[in-house]
Amino acid sequence: MSKLTVMLAASLLLVSCENVDKSMHDQNYAKVEKVARIPAPVGAVPILGSKVKIDYAGADPAKLTAPYPLDASAVARGERFYGIYCVPCHGASGKADTKIAAKMDVPPLSLVAEHAVKELKDAEIFLKIVASDSIMPKYRAELDDNEAWDVVAYVRELQKTAK
Ligand code: HEC
Repeated sequence: MSKLTVMLAASLLLVSCENVDKSMHDQNYAKVEKVARIPAPVGAVPILGSKVKIDYAGADPAKLTAPYPLDASAVARGERFYGIYCVPCHGASGKADTKIAAKMDVPPLSLVAEHAVKELKDAEIFLKIVASDSIMPKYRAELDDNEAWDVVAYVRELQKTAK
């Protein structure tokens, strides 16, 4: 078979595909779904529950406050998430005295030492959790906004009770 015959046969095949029933493909809803999602602006109040994940990269901590008081019930909820996501590096006491911490080139900071983290604003700790862009990984995929604020409450509690 010459190259030309092959090309002809191929183009005939392509043309015949035009006649395949495309009614499913051409339905309106398929097109509507292709519209890009509009990301929620920083500070927007989620109306679909806190499961809506805002991208806080570069957000200004001065414009962020906890949406509810970081009280005893927030501390209690935060303890669980702290135990899952923070203990491996920062330790149960917050002193970053874990085996993993000892092996890291850039060690995790003590969360309860007199300076540094104690002096951070709530919003700065919140942003570290959901939008860390340095050695520490961010936990945006794992924690929604309220869960991250609960962790902030627990870190504050650790600082209050640190020995
Ligand atoms: C894989 C280890 C690791 C885990 C897990 C981890 N961190 Fe960190 N964290 C670090 C390291 C390393 C630093 C210091 C370098 C940096 O800022 O990235 C740090 C720094 C911090 C700081 C100080 C930020 C600052 O601006 O000084 C805070 C607050 C903090 N972590 C909170 C948390 C909380 C809360 C969690 C749990 C949600 C957590 N970290 C989980 C490694 C970790």
